[in-house]
Amino acid sequence: MSSPTPRPARKAVIPVAGMGTRFLPATKAVPKELLPVVDRPALQYIVEEAARAGLGEVLMVTGRNKAAIEDFFDRAPELEAALEKKGDQSRLDAVHESTDVAQVHFVRQGEAKGLGHAVLQAAAFVGDEPFAVLLGDDLIDARDLLLEQMLAVQAEHGGCVIALLDVGAENIDKYGAVAIEDAPQTPAGDGDAVVRITGMVEKPPREEAPSSLAIIGRYVLAPEVFDAIRATPPGRGGEIQLTDALLALVEQGVPVHGVVFSGRRYDTGDKLDYLKAVVRLAVERDDLGPALRPWLRDFVADLPAEGASPA
Ligand code: G1P
Repeated sequence: MSSPTPRPARKAVIPVAGMGTRFLPATKAVPKELLPVVDRPALQYIVEEAARAGLGEVLMVTGRNKAAIEDFFDRAPELEAALEKKGDQSRLDAVHESTDVAQVHFVRQGEAKGLGHAVLQAAAFVGDEPFAVLLGDDLIDARDLLLEQMLAVQAEHGGCVIALLDVGAENIDKYGAVAIEDAPQTPAGDGDAVVRITGMVEKPPREEAPSSLAIIGRYVLAPEVFDAIRATPPGRGGEIQLTDALLALVEQGVPVHGVVFSGRRYDTGDKLDYLKAVVRLAVERDDLGPALRPWLRDFVADLPAEGASPA
């Protein structure tokens, strides 16, 4: 019997129901996903990443107080008319970019019962196909083709594929941590290693972590994950964890691979990393970099040494 033709993933799911407490008070009225990274919401980078990888159908799993996200991805006829009247084509193009990049759909999570529960809300939208999940706090540099590699690995092996990053033993307790088969498999494209995952645990104490390889916010999942989530009891923090459902799939023998990312990733959910992301992306922009770079050099040269009080 020949094996079934692999179905390529076409859809992406982006959970955006989180409360964003780390960015209070800004996130009291503005969803954290809309905080600007330079001049675009963090979420727009994520949608563009999905679209670039060929995932033009995007479902956002939203929650209370997230109406601004729906407005952002909707047309803005009055604003567009005003810009047209002024002949301001470049700003008009920027406004169109946010609506034209992908077909964006929305579903409400209702209750915040964890990432696994959020992903389960996508079951009807996804149907019986593999699909990607992108978490909004992780920005992957547009030059690093992580999602494309993961889609290729999924098309080759089937099952699920998870993005991994070595965050060091001292940071692993903030993430889902994985155990892998000893021998890394072939590098995928850009040189990122592909590994077979044999176990995983959500935010383990450092001394119990199976490795320093952390799950970062990109997944390509088989539709079997929905049944696994339905069967998953609340885990860490009383929440239904995607990590636990994926472990159940590993235990059922479903192939679950990891792509160990070696490129540039920015964690916009963390204040310090968010600031770094804004600076790193801005210095490389053609419109801002030439003015920002010399200013930044002077600014850094004038910084007092650590421990000294600022002037
Ligand atoms: C989620 C996942 C975790 C993963 C992390 C990556 O946790 O549950 O396994 O390591 O995203 O950002 P959260 O950050 O939502 O608590």
